[in-house]
Amino acid sequence: MRKLYGVMGDPIRHSMSPDIHNDAFRRMDINADYHLFHVLPDQLENAVKGVRALNISGFNVTVPHKTKIMPFLDEIDELAGAIGAVNTVVNREGRLVGYNTDGPGFVRGIKERLGTPLANKKTLIIGAGGAARGIYFSLVKEGITQIDICNRTLQNAKSLIEQCPYETASQAFGFEEAAEMISQYDLIVQTTSAGMSPNVSEVPFEISDRLQASALVSDIIYNPLETGFLRQAKEKGAMTHNGIDMFVYQAALAFEIWTGVTPDSTKMRQIVVNKLG
Ligand code: ATR
Repeated sequence: MRKLYGVMGDPIRHSMSPDIHNDAFRRMDINADYHLFHVLPDQLENAVKGVRALNISGFNVTVPHKTKIMPFLDEIDELAGAIGAVNTVVNREGRLVGYNTDGPGFVRGIKERLGTPLANKKTLIIGAGGAARGIYFSLVKEGITQIDICNRTLQNAKSLIEQCPYETASQAFGFEEAAEMISQYDLIVQTTSAGMSPNVSEVPFEISDRLQASALVSDIIYNPLETGFLRQAKEKGAMTHNGIDMFVYQAALAFEIWTGVTPDSTKMRQIVVNKLG
């Protein structure tokens, strides 16, 4: 029987997930379809009941449901539990199991970009919100212990470090201090919404000439493809990496959880790039 997948969110109209998953299903000859489900916040519990009633095989979860969905599931993967957010659910013979592939998707993308082991990279994460949390815990789980967090609100960076379920030696900084210490870092990951369309002129802080030319600067924003922060990093000679990979690999990992097979991530990226114009 044809399997049914989808994504629940509000708003959901602009999601690119159906494009990439349906293309991968067709390409790999998998008898399945992926749909958009516009689920309002007060309908989330009913929507999950609907998944069970209709025996939907799996789904993605996006804003604003990633945390609120957790109590309605039967099991939560360890990393997703630590992060406190689920973006992928698989229906295993009636048991709904929640995963988080956002942080692990970022890690896979950055590993491919770097082509060298991550473990000894001294890393700075900018931001301490939900996206930073997923990336931070996933990087620590991957074995990177030298990760500092800087944030506009210092206390939020401190709390994030305290909440990390794995052993770390992380320190928290404000933006000014982080900007001064920028030369220490091999990998810098920008996770705040500063610079996201329509506020394209915003940067969390100005990147000085002290940035190592061998550093990799990543911004999880993909609209625009090159944020002001990435542009500054490029001007200083550093490598840059935009948010497309995180989106592509969170989808590829979800696809693997559902089907057990790895989709062509290059093709997925192409679809996203074309769609973004
Ligand atoms: P997300 O899930 O996208 O991470 P979030 O949980 O609301 O969203 O977190 C937003 C992050 O972006 C926070 O680190 C926030 O900083 P504060 O903790 O000080 O609020 C940061 N942020 C949002 N807008 C920002 C801006 N204009 N400049 C710098 N940081 C900003």
